[in-house]
Amino acid sequence: MGPMATTRNILIAPSILSADFARLGEEVRAIDQAGCDWIHVDVMDGHFVPNITIGPAVVKAIRAHTQKPLDVHLMIAPADPFIAAFADAGSDIITVHAEVGPHLDRTLALIRQLGKKAGVSLTPHTPEAALTYVLERLDLILVMTVNPGFAGQPFIPAMLEKVARIRSMIGSRPIQLEVDGGVTPDTAGLCAKAGANVLVAGSAVFKGNKYADNIAAIRSAAAA
Ligand code: DX5
Ligand code: ZN
Repeated sequence: MGPMATTRNILIAPSILSADFARLGEEVRAIDQAGCDWIHVDVMDGHFVPNITIGPAVVKAIRAHTQKPLDVHLMIAPADPFIAAFADAGSDIITVHAEVGPHLDRTLALIRQLGKKAGVSLTPHTPEAALTYVLERLDLILVMTVNPGFAGQPFIPAMLEKVARIRSMIGSRPIQLEVDGGVTPDTAGLCAKAGANVLVAGSAVFKGNKYADNIAAIRSAAAA
């Protein structure tokens, strides 16, 4: 194979954290029609992260507005008591943080038992070694490229090496490698080059009134 051998299909997952919460259904329909691949939902508890957002009732409410996968990023501790509620609400992918509980293997098994795709997220300081013994339980790995809690923070360049290392750990397993935080047309290419195939973007998608252009700009930067 030639140079195309390393080209991956890039998926764009806008984070509704940057949407207008007063018009959330409309915003979800807008990013769907603007050509996103997944809808990324940031759930924060004011305990694991210093911000509070939404819960299962809101996931259920937006479920009615799109057929696209709901990619639910739980920044909550503990996570286990709430996973069934997020599954019932219509999540497709449920991602927990490796840092939040003592029994990550059990948590991932629970997500799959509920019929959902299971993801693990790593905050910037958590080494990729946390994934070593759970790879067979995983459908997705989410590398935080900012400290979780807020939209609009600057991308942490040291995370590119982590992404590259995880890409090689994944090997031929069918695991999605997602980055989240500070993804813009300026950083998307670096993420894709390092091996990410799913790009979450909040502020870079929801700025101005041109969501389709914003998504296209990130997509073409990732392909370049
Ligand atoms: C941060 C969230 C991200 C965030 C991304 O804690 O997990 O999904 O909304 O926002 P931007 O793309 O603006 O950095
Ligand atoms: Zn997120």
